[in-house]
Amino acid sequence: MKKTLLAVALGLSLSACSSMESKPVAEAAPALKDGEIALPVNYTSWPVFMAGIQKVPVKQIRDIYINTAGTAAKAGGAFPNGTEFVMEIYSVKLNADGTPMLNADGKMSKDKLSKVFLMAKGAGWGDSAPAALKNGDWVYAAYEGSGAKGPADASSCRACHLPLADKDFVFHYDAYFQKRAALTSSPLAKLSQGEILAATHLGY
Ligand code: HEC
Repeated sequence: MKKTLLAVALGLSLSACSSMESKPVAEAAPALKDGEIALPVNYTSWPVFMAGIQKVPVKQIRDIYINTAGTAAKAGGAFPNGTEFVMEIYSVKLNADGTPMLNADGKMSKDKLSKVFLMAKGAGWGDSAPAALKNGDWVYAAYEGSGAKGPADASSCRACHLPLADKDFVFHYDAYFQKRAALTSSPLAKLSQGEILAATHLGY
């Protein structure tokens, strides 16, 4: 009862949450290659992986979502097959001299969605990658902010993520599990896994 009330207080319907679960990519499709991941339509309702990353040198703000299948990952382990990440890359508002406009907190603010980068994994999917650039079973894809498909060549994606093999090729691996650990040691710890996921939709 208490849990339900809290869920209501969070403004979330848990049943709606489970119905938004996307089918694991691994079941929905045969092995995908780089450039073949479809742009999910509902990803902004997925759990937030990391939000509002300020990339000052490249004048971007990035938000990363993870599908529900991926949230089964445990700290220290790999993400399960069926995991998918969506990273939105926004341009930022600029001053007349081209420098990022900063708000009172010294933060940049979003202008337009410029790119959407995807990473998904399934059993054996990495086999299609060049051996030297194999990132486990992850495959990559990129879209323009308009939704148009980006280039299918994922060599640059693979080369930059490759050194993170001990983090399952995921940059914000440590920060994500630290955030989850903080959640489970907070008053929210009394909540079920589903309710914690719902809370992460709010970007806690
Ligand atoms: C120059 C290095 C570099 C290249 C090239 C690169 N990435 Fe990344 N990627 C990063 C970094 C760093 C992050 C973490 C987010 C941040 O702080 O910017 C990231 C994060 C991601 C994430 C979120 C999961 C995570 O690792 O945290 C996805 C999805 C992703 N990249 C996809 C791609 C795709 C698709 C491409 C190629 C089109 C690509 N990346 C190319 C550096 C790179």
